[in-house]
Amino acid sequence: MGIFTKKPIGKLLLDSSDGERVLKRTLSAGNLVALGIGAIIGAGLFVRTAAAAANNAGPSVTIGFIVAAIGCALAGLCYAEFASMIPIAGSAYTYSYATMGELVAWIIGWDLVLEYAVGAATVGIAWSEYLNKLLEFVHLRVPYQWSHSPFEVCDGKGIFADQMGVHGLMNVPALFIIFMITMLLIRGTKESAVVNGIIVISKVSIVILFIVLGWSYMNPVNHEHYIPAASIYTDSQGVSHKYGGIWGILGAAGVVFFAFIGFDAVSTAAQEAKNPKRDMPIGILGSLVICTILYILFAHVLTGVANVNDFRTVGKEASVAYAINTYMAGYGWLGKMVTVAILFGFSSVILVMLMGQSRVFYSMSRDGLVPKLFSDLHPKFSTPYKSNWIFLVLVGAFAAFVPGDIVGDMTSIGTLFAFILVCAGVWILRVTNPEIPRQFKVPFVPVVSVLGIVVCGAMIAGLGWTNWARLGGWLVIGLVIYYSYSRHNSKLNNESKS
Ligand code: ALA
Repeated sequence: MGIFTKKPIGKLLLDSSDGERVLKRTLSAGNLVALGIGAIIGAGLFVRTAAAAANNAGPSVTIGFIVAAIGCALAGLCYAEFASMIPIAGSAYTYSYATMGELVAWIIGWDLVLEYAVGAATVGIAWSEYLNKLLEFVHLRVPYQWSHSPFEVCDGKGIFADQMGVHGLMNVPALFIIFMITMLLIRGTKESAVVNGIIVISKVSIVILFIVLGWSYMNPVNHEHYIPAASIYTDSQGVSHKYGGIWGILGAAGVVFFAFIGFDAVSTAAQEAKNPKRDMPIGILGSLVICTILYILFAHVLTGVANVNDFRTVGKEASVAYAINTYMAGYGWLGKMVTVAILFGFSSVILVMLMGQSRVFYSMSRDGLVPKLFSDLHPKFSTPYKSNWIFLVLVGAFAAFVPGDIVGDMTSIGTLFAFILVCAGVWILRVTNPEIPRQFKVPFVPVVSVLGIVVCGAMIAGLGWTNWARLGGWLVIGLVIYYSYSRHNSKLNNESKS
């Protein structure tokens, strides 16, 4: 018993249907795919793609997308098996509690805060970039100091040409959007899913439109040296990156991996799905496949229309709108449309991530690993509103005071780590509990699990030591909390003692 206590799957299923703290089952398979795409297409594509091209891989960021997609597909298969077997809120956290014991479950639940909460902050920061792009169309802007973190200094490019050397203070628009989405979430999932559906359609439409219309504006010169020679690139904030070659591609894969995050958020809604056993694999894998195809084409066109130097300087922020406005003459309307759709699109990503976050902590709270208030439901809306408020403070702080590159890479590395544990979990459970019915089975276990671990591990390697250190620091904080609070309050541990 103790840190290796595993939650029996029968008990997991029973707990999910008990008492008054039960979430409503309102989501269909279509809603889930929409939920997935809503969470997937966002800042990763519209912001991190250009950052990965600039700092890591140039045009070969497309290869980075392929590597990331392979890692996600492998982990996605494992997620789908779990989700079809344990259709309960909480995602990787719940799965690992059943397979690898309480300590690993805690680690993963804590790690998922990086994915969902810090991820939401990253998208909030990206939202702020595109808001300034929109304001630029009407000759307005949020000044540099009020749209950037204290760790950033203005390099005097683009709309901030007159603010060279100004330090950021607080990212107010990022904080604003996190606040608005939290309010929407507190009102309830069903309403949110309807809004999400509309946003998903507009988001997919602009991606396709950019691919089709941008195709003929690609400049072949930008695609020469498709895989640049290996070198070191130091960005305007003084951070060095391995650029070009294999490490460039792996680094880019780790960065754009962010663009895929979200398909697993579908699994956090399992308890709200009408028919989770059938709909979960459809929701997870369906949204992943659609997005992968779009991403590779999109990245190819983006790096063909604008060049790496643009992404390092004047087109560093809101790069897609920049590329259209600068290189696609006559398509000013598309630039504006893309910017508006992106702003709405990012909102839906934030929504799903914040929802995923509150659902993970909802499950952890029911298990006694975090305080009970994280599973207190709103008397009218049946949403974990106290949890939403608390995460508003945490996510808001990251969004307002930390640069987008840092929170983006923290999100990627945290999620990759969770994926590795999920890949391992499927394998472990096949050995320890082969008898449990699985509506969906991953083919070729353990080969798929091992490959998933290797590919995700390679992306972690590509993200570099500063990110390993941040992940390590985060996990240490989590362990301190586990040993000082969670272990003593764990319901399962207390039951097994009595
Ligand atoms: N995949 C999501 C995005 O790119 C997190 O914004």
